[in-house]
This record gives sequence, C-alpha cells and structure tokens, in this order.
Amino acid sequence: MSLDSHDADAPAHVDLDVTSTQSWQALAAHQPHVYAMHLREVFAVDPARGRELLVDVGDLHIDYSKHRVLRETLELLFSLAREVGVEDKRDAMFAGVHINTSEDRAVLHTALRLPADAELVVDGQDVVAAVHAVLRAMGQFTDRLRSGEWTGFTGKAITDVVNIGIGGSDLGPDMVYRALRHYADGPRCHFVSNVDPADIVATLAGLDAETTLFIIASKTFTTLETLTNAAAARTWLWDELDATGNADAVAKHFVAVSTNAEKVSEFGIDTANMFGFWDWVGGRYSVDSAIGLSVMAAVGKEGFAEFLDGFHIVDEHFRTEPLETNAPVILALIGLWYNNFWDVGSRAVLPYSNDMMRFAAYLQQLTMESNGKSVGMYGHHEITDTGEVFWGEPGTNGQHAFYQLLHQGTRMIPSDFIGFARPTDDLPVTADGQGSMHDLLMSNYFAQSKVLAFGKTADEIAAEGVDPHVVAHKVMPGNRPSTSILAPKLTPSVIGQLIALYEHQVFVAGAVWGINPFDQWGVELGKTQAKELLGVITEESAPGPQGDSSTDELVRWYRGERGR
Ligand code: F6P
Repeated sequence: MSLDSHDADAPAHVDLDVTSTQSWQALAAHQPHVYAMHLREVFAVDPARGRELLVDVGDLHIDYSKHRVLRETLELLFSLAREVGVEDKRDAMFAGVHINTSEDRAVLHTALRLPADAELVVDGQDVVAAVHAVLRAMGQFTDRLRSGEWTGFTGKAITDVVNIGIGGSDLGPDMVYRALRHYADGPRCHFVSNVDPADIVATLAGLDAETTLFIIASKTFTTLETLTNAAAARTWLWDELDATGNADAVAKHFVAVSTNAEKVSEFGIDTANMFGFWDWVGGRYSVDSAIGLSVMAAVGKEGFAEFLDGFHIVDEHFRTEPLETNAPVILALIGLWYNNFWDVGSRAVLPYSNDMMRFAAYLQQLTMESNGKSVGMYGHHEITDTGEVFWGEPGTNGQHAFYQLLHQGTRMIPSDFIGFARPTDDLPVTADGQGSMHDLLMSNYFAQSKVLAFGKTADEIAAEGVDPHVVAHKVMPGNRPSTSILAPKLTPSVIGQLIALYEHQVFVAGAVWGINPFDQWGVELGKTQAKELLGVITEESAPGPQGDSSTDELVRWYRGERGR
C-alpha cells in the first residue's frame, strides 16, 4: 500500500502543517521563558534533573538534563509529536507501508536486523527469510575468505579487501570498520570512494594484486564514481597479474554488493558472487545490509550478528517505548526544539573515541541527505525549517580546534558527547601517574559538557586575581546545551545501537516536519550536469553556452590550464 494523502486508509495528519498545531503555538509562546533562564538557574530550580532526565537503552546511558528544556518544554514536545502522529508514522514504517512516497517504496532498514524467527511479509515478500538468506551467503563467503579457502588467481589467500563504493556504500562500512578495529581479525580492509584518482592510486600503492579482493558496493550499480574506480581497479589487477582481459582473474578478485544483477553481470562479475539487497533499504541506511560485507570480512559473521543485535535493541525500544521514555524521540524533539524555536540549525557530534573518527562524516549523510528537504511529503511547500546540520570531530582533537567557538562564540551549538567507560586501548599516564590515558580522555569528556553548561562568571574570574582588563575575555558564558551518551565499551553491538539511535532521530524529526527522509532528488541535477560538462571541458572546441558567464569563464580558464 502506498501512503497517499488521498488513500482512504491514510491517516488524517499526513498533510498537516505542523506550524499550525496547538502544540507548536504553545512551544512558540513558551520559548521566551526558557530562553531567559540560564542552565545554572534551570538546575537550581530543578536539582533532581541530572538524576532524572536520563534514559537507558541497551548499553547506552543517555543524559539529556543539560539541555535548555524544562519539564514543561518536554511535555509540549511530546504533545507535538502526538499531534502530528509520530507513533502512527513509526508503526507504518515498521509495517512496510510505502512511506517513501516519491519513490513509492517501503522503508525497512529495521527488517535487516530482525531475528531469523521474526515474521514480516511486505508486498508479498517474506522479508525476514530474504534477509537471512543473504546473511547466510555473506557468512559462507567471509568464512572462506577469512580461513584462506578463497584464493586469488594465482592461488594465494586474500590478505586485503578494498571496498569500492560511495555515500552509503562507503561511509557506513568505513566508519564501522575503523570503530571495530579491536574486533577485526580477518583481512585488512581499505575503502575507496572518491572519483579523484588520488584515492584509488594511494590505496593500491601498498597492495599486492595476488592477495587483494575488491568488493564493488553500489545499490544501483550505475554510480559514476564507483564504476570508474571499479574499472580502474580491474585494469590494475590485470596489469599486475599480467592477465589482461582474463575473466577468471576478475571472478577470483571481484565480488559485488548491489540490487542490480544485470549491471553487475555487465561489468564481468559472476552474479554467484553478488550479495543482494532491496529497494526498501536506502543507501544511507544500508551498512547493516550486504553493504556491510567488508565489516563482516573483518570481524566475522558472529561479530556482524552482534552488530545487528545492537540495532535491533534500539529498534525495539523505539517501536515500543512511550514517547516520554523513548530515547530517539526525546533527542530528536530536543534537536527540533532548537532548530525551529531557537533558530539554531547545527549540532556538533563529539565522540571521545579516536576509533569513531568517521562517525560525524557518517552522520552527515544519514541526517542531511535524509532531512535536507524543502517540500513536504506530498509536494507542498508550506513547511517549516528542516535539516539540522551535523558535524564534528573526536575529542580531544576538537577541543584544540573549534571548541573555542562552542564555548565563547555568539552562536549556540548543541553538542552530543559520546564516551566509553572501558577503553579499547589504554596506557598509563607517566607524567603524574594519576589514572590512565583513557581516564585522562574521559576527564575531558566530563569537563567539556560541564563547562559548556555552567561556564564561569566574571566575579569568579575576578576573585582569582585576574587582571581586570582580561576578565571579560575569560568569562565562560555557559548555558550551552549538550547530550551525554555513555556506554560501557565500544563493541559491535554498541556501534549498532548508536547508529540506530541516530537513524530513528532522523525519522522522528522528518515525521514532525512532514517531509520524506528517504529520497534524495537533490543530488541528481549535479550528476547530469557533470556528465554534460565533461564533454565541454575536454573537447577542443570552445565551450558551448552554459547559460551563465561564470561557468563559461571558469571552464575556459580550466581548459587553458589543464595542459593536454
Ligand atoms: O548520490 C547520492 C547517492 O545516491 C546516495 O544516496 C547513495 O548512498 C550513493 O549515492 C551511492 O549510491 P549507490 O550505492 O547506488 O552507488
């Protein structure tokens, strides 16, 4: 069934203008009251909030007390979510309703992590059986790879896997592989995405073709960057093995992950070595599908199963928990509160874990390709501001880069701090012997959110005897909100839990805004224009009119300088 505003079954709220709801109006009226309060005052009048504005889901311990929300604010936000039908929309997603209206597709990444004994039939397909059949095939293949049974063209075992993909076919596996460094006991993995040849050239430079396997990961198998890099990899392999045109060499060194068997076959990859998924898995929601094949190769099928279990824990929480205690709902609504009522459009994501160095990059696609929309689900333009900007870097590196602006800048940027009780690596601190390097890292984690929230006043600074003309420069205004997310350890399950926590926040925000987070039409025009311009920048004849003098002039300059 497709969810159409004209369907008899469609809920009444599908076309609702969220800004006209009672809760929205009430939140707008309430905002100046909260705006006028400093977090110091908020904690003074509600001292229990640090012990109560918490939610535990799976291994995640989430504190949202350092936000500029009162308990009344939260109630209004939950009313808003109810008024726009977030619960019905959530249920529709889990049930396989075609909530991706512009592409008439179900949105079922949650089915990728259902246990084998679950039941879900959508559009006549036994989804759970299909998912587990692919997982089994992935398991058999990665077992052979990891044990050395799968050999390359010259009979040697595979030591290195290169995943060639971009966007959702790269960011997820790359981020998770790095995050699970400590669990990786299979072949080394590398990730090539950019059509800039520097990417593949630098990656292949250290590799031996006899022991390298390529995973060509592309949902559509039409993506320019991926197909170009795949062809370059094939040429490199043939050259290195002195086997140009040899189909057996390709069969032994290339596998594919895709929904498009025809194109995979056209490239020369045996579809027996293709791992499939379905149009109801969006690219940016696909790391837990066969797109995660490189991760499974690295950590094994058991580790991958733990990763999927992590997602499922948060899925079940999101699906069943009342809004008031539902972590993705709470965090999404707080993000929306700032986005729409405070004119604050960005959120910093700050993992205190070097192994999570690609997490912010991963979230950028997940959140911004999903909710960067300016028309409503049914094509109407009367929508409010959407699409929080997500960005960040691991702590403590970020502290020495952009935290100055977080602490004393004129913009308020809410932050998500992510940290772990037990380290993946640790070393003693030799300078004063107090604690370990991990404790040092985590003392910074706790200090930063504390200082952001509570700051330091001019009086406190002056009392320390600071030169009066410097006092103003040293004032730490505080009143800057953050979420603190803690987990015992960065494990396969925990990284799955964290991803699902953000996936569902994206869903809730999109549901309140009344947009479709599951299409991405905005990336298409650039692709077609690049194809047209390729001819213009490489042909000797003068560039044809491009319709604007700026592009024409830039192209003319480039052609003069490109030197061929
Ligand atoms: O251009 C955007 C996009 O379509 C993303 O949504 C997707 O993750 C990426 O390109 C890669 O697409 P594919 O997996 O089909 O190669």
